[in-house]
Amino acid sequence: MSGLEESLQDALEKIEADGLARSLQPGEGVDFTSNDYLGFSTEERFRERLRAGLDEKSLSAPASRLLRGTHPAHLELEKKLAEFKGAEAALIFPTGYQANLGLLTSLLGPQDRVLSDELNHASIIDGLRLSGARKHIFPHLDIDALERELARPHPGGKTFIVTESYFSMDGDIAPLERYAALAEKYSASLLVDDAHATGLFGSERGSGLAEEYGIEGRCAAIVSTFGKALGGFGAFVAGSNTLVKWLVNRSRPFIFTTATPPLLLAMMAAGLELCADPGPRARVHSLARRLRDALAAGGLDCSGSSGPIVPVIVGGNEDALEAADRLQQAGLDVRAVRPPTVAPGSSRLRISVHADHSEGDIDRLASALIELLARKETI
Ligand SMILES: Cc1ncc(COP(=O)(O)O)c(C=O)c1O
Repeated sequence: MSGLEESLQDALEKIEADGLARSLQPGEGVDFTSNDYLGFSTEERFRERLRAGLDEKSLSAPASRLLRGTHPAHLELEKKLAEFKGAEAALIFPTGYQANLGLLTSLLGPQDRVLSDELNHASIIDGLRLSGARKHIFPHLDIDALERELARPHPGGKTFIVTESYFSMDGDIAPLERYAALAEKYSASLLVDDAHATGLFGSERGSGLAEEYGIEGRCAAIVSTFGKALGGFGAFVAGSNTLVKWLVNRSRPFIFTTATPPLLLAMMAAGLELCADPGPRARVHSLARRLRDALAAGGLDCSGSSGPIVPVIVGGNEDALEAADRLQQAGLDVRAVRPPTVAPGSSRLRISVHADHSEGDIDRLASALIELLARKETI
């Protein structure tokens, strides 16, 4: 074993001893883990629309967008995405991770100040690190702490507020309207990661929480992804024409990467089209309420969250792993989420309710959770 491999092996053993080792495990059983909240990925209508994409002349676009990678389908979809989000323009990125990196590193620099919720996604954290901006991490959803920091003088650069709208591991919602008002009061720019809300919230278009709060025009940029409720893969940033022009010229994760293949664009367009139907959205919220009510009746309180992300906090890493393992053995695919994805001591079962679950699936999961966690007394 080389010196490098030995040191990796030692570090891996420590990770294992801390109950933090990860391995890749394909899904089996009823899916309560993926972010396919509306069940589109297995929808026949989704498949049909995707098949149409196979008839396109080019299935891939092996070049960057700034060279020959831009296909008419990119421009067509970007126009629809701007309308969907209530923005002037939109720009597709290969993934949400790259969208956050590309947005934050091109907008913020070392002279700027950014106020970021402590539970923001890793892609936001990494984008902020790379940008070199002066960071102030405020306690989760603490609007008073946010305002106190905004009120401090910041001579020189610009000020940004960045937040997820629907938090991926906690299923709670940022007070976006109040953030928008604070951004205006203190001349800051509001950047919203609407990844998990897209397709789930917003009564007219289902485009997310920026729509639900009616603040689309008050955000400097909104990031959305296709790899969650829209059932596909990829992401986009929505904002003003000027913002999108800036990203095209300055966003390195957009510029120096291969364009999204037209075949994937067909999948993205299919998700967008299906999202116009409010039925699956209403159903997933109703099933999530059913699960929370059943858990509450069994003594498990998940009332701090809403919508299809239902976190059941277990605490210890090993306890969370064991609980997930038992559920998997019962045919319920629930996974443990552990640090660094969540704070130490807050390992959890992150349950994701889908519109294509049956009432029976939900009731079975609720009973299994109550039996398991009540018996282990881990909550
Ligand atoms: C809040 C949030 N933003 C961004 C991303 C990254 O999106 P993608 O998976 O498309 O890279 C994720 C999840 O993966 C996320 O949860």
